[in-house]
Amino acid sequence: MGRFYITTPIYYVNDYPHIGHAYCTVCADFFARYHRLKGDETHFLTGTDEHGQKVQKSAAAEGITPQALADRVVERYHALWKQLRISHDDFIRTTQARHEKGVLALLDRLVAAGDVYKASYRGPYCVSCEAFFPENQIVEGKCPDFGHPVTVLEEESYFFRLSRYQEPLLQLYAERPDFVLPQSRMNEVRAFVEGGLKDLSISRTSITWGIPYPGDEKHVLYVWLDALSNYVTALGYGSDDPSKYGTFWPADLHLIGKDILRFHAVYWPAFLMSAGLPLPKHVYGHGWWMKDASKMSKSLGNVVDPRPYLEEFGADALRYFLLREKPIETDGSFSDEAFLDRLNADLANDLGNLASRLTNLLERQAKGAIGPGDGSLKAHAGAAVDRYCAAVERFSPREALEAIWGLISDLNKFLVEREPWAKPGTPEALATLSEAARALRLAALCLEPAMPEAAPRITEALGFERTDFVNARWADRQSGSARKLTGLFPRVDKAEYFARLGKDGAGERGSRGAGDKRGEAREMEDEKKTPEVNAHQAPAAVAPPVPPPAQQAQERISIDEFRRVELRAGKILEAERVPKSNKLVRMVVDFGSERRQIVGGIGKKYAPEQLVGRTCPFVYNLQPAKLMGVESNGMIMAGNLDGEPILLQFIEDVPAGSKIT
Ligand code: MSP
Repeated sequence: MGRFYITTPIYYVNDYPHIGHAYCTVCADFFARYHRLKGDETHFLTGTDEHGQKVQKSAAAEGITPQALADRVVERYHALWKQLRISHDDFIRTTQARHEKGVLALLDRLVAAGDVYKASYRGPYCVSCEAFFPENQIVEGKCPDFGHPVTVLEEESYFFRLSRYQEPLLQLYAERPDFVLPQSRMNEVRAFVEGGLKDLSISRTSITWGIPYPGDEKHVLYVWLDALSNYVTALGYGSDDPSKYGTFWPADLHLIGKDILRFHAVYWPAFLMSAGLPLPKHVYGHGWWMKDASKMSKSLGNVVDPRPYLEEFGADALRYFLLREKPIETDGSFSDEAFLDRLNADLANDLGNLASRLTNLLERQAKGAIGPGDGSLKAHAGAAVDRYCAAVERFSPREALEAIWGLISDLNKFLVEREPWAKPGTPEALATLSEAARALRLAALCLEPAMPEAAPRITEALGFERTDFVNARWADRQSGSARKLTGLFPRVDKAEYFARLGKDGAGERGSRGAGDKRGEAREMEDEKKTPEVNAHQAPAAVAPPVPPPAQQAQERISIDEFRRVELRAGKILEAERVPKSNKLVRMVVDFGSERRQIVGGIGKKYAPEQLVGRTCPFVYNLQPAKLMGVESNGMIMAGNLDGEPILLQFIEDVPAGSKIT
């Protein structure tokens, strides 16, 4: 058994999380879950970067303290990670006392090494990057990294003797060429260091929101020295209990975006060398998500919010898409079209159909019993698992999933060729089904890190015990007992989806900031007001034909949580089809004390005239939403039969408006 310590960057709290932040954290979660399944003692750290000028400025614009801003935004991170099924072991906030203590302990080591001195500094400074840049790198008054405007700043500052570490760093890169991955990024970093390193300013007097410099409190520590230290402070470095530090440091992998490579591959190892601490094993700089080939930015209004996708399709679908769609090292483009194509082709078709077909046949032909099979797939499935593991070990989720999809598509072919449905119950058919079930069991095991909800459902439906990779053999001696599995990944009707988003969602969902020139502070301000009707709430107001996977495998809720949902009987007074929709029906519903307009997705199954006069249960306290431009103030409840919504009725007559408890 080995050990594995993985970290994500800690995210700034001057912005709410978007798909790019979700991406890095999902990749890290994938690696962490894989290593846990492998039996490694695993530690997965994420968190928030709460100090610095950006946060101070955003808070000031809102007229609140930076701490209040951080406290608010951090909740969004917690909520998103929960929704995405992120399995981090720790969440560090740089405003926590444990962190500040550790940072000062680290600074002590830099000072003790003679690497810190005080001097006055004047030069071009980029507020956005929170960094000084050498004069010769400034092009037309813009910073070299992002083209942000720079201003000349003069400051008395503490400096770190980064220049001393040029040679040791180059030696590190030569000795450990995989210190930075992928290779192309290693080359960039090496070239940067070869270009010469100047000493680094590690304190600021121009801001107050940071860790005060000990003994000279008009200075606060440079936010990057503060932030990078999180990787050790979270393990208890500099605290009374550094046992986790002893167990897990050095980190196996700092997973970060390509934009913050220099901080992790140059400054951070230099700080660690100065402090005499071991260096992380790998720094991986992943590529970025763009939106339809453009960089996401608030001013373009194309920043993708992951929540609507999670609400409608569940965590697994989004996780799978992010991991599978683009290679980790390159940039990729996020679009609803690509997302739905993956969902329909890979998840609903290839995987979902295989699992439901196989479990159905096993149930019908063998009462679920999975026998020994004939061994014809054993070597093939084993090789796919090996390819998968090798790809994960070289930090390549996409290739890992491709290896498993290769197996899944071979399994589908295997069934088509052998046609076990044509000779039900024969020894040949039963051997085919058992063989395929054993191979699917291995595929499901490998899919767990990507799909922590759906994959265990497959294993469970096959009736095998869950195992880890160490025990992930063909399981010759284990017998399964299958139960039919349906609704794993319902197919999405793309035409209906885009029609539903229509004008309200501008044909896409999840983007925010559209036309929003009001700036960060206002956007955050809006968060505290009654939420506006927006496109992502739309699906909540129709009864979805099949509950999304996230809801199927959700953890249990308390009675108090359930009580927050107000259910009432409503009598349908009027009903008519929503123009241009084959699914939506606009109803006027009587709840005794008031009448409400409610739109429901029941039009394929029920004609409007069948609805009028009926009393049905409704969700009464749902936020309003617009469905194809029509406002809906509640949701009609429905069961589902083969993907069709089936309305519910009361056995006795109940008065309109009566509460359902
Ligand atoms: N606070 C610093 C990191 C300190 S780590 C010691 C920071 N925060 S950030 O919130 O701006 O960015 C965090 C991460 O999100 C970075 O790794 C960045 O690359 C990543 N992403 C931001 N936008 C992204 C995309 N559009 N796509 C993929 N990742 C992106 O930098």
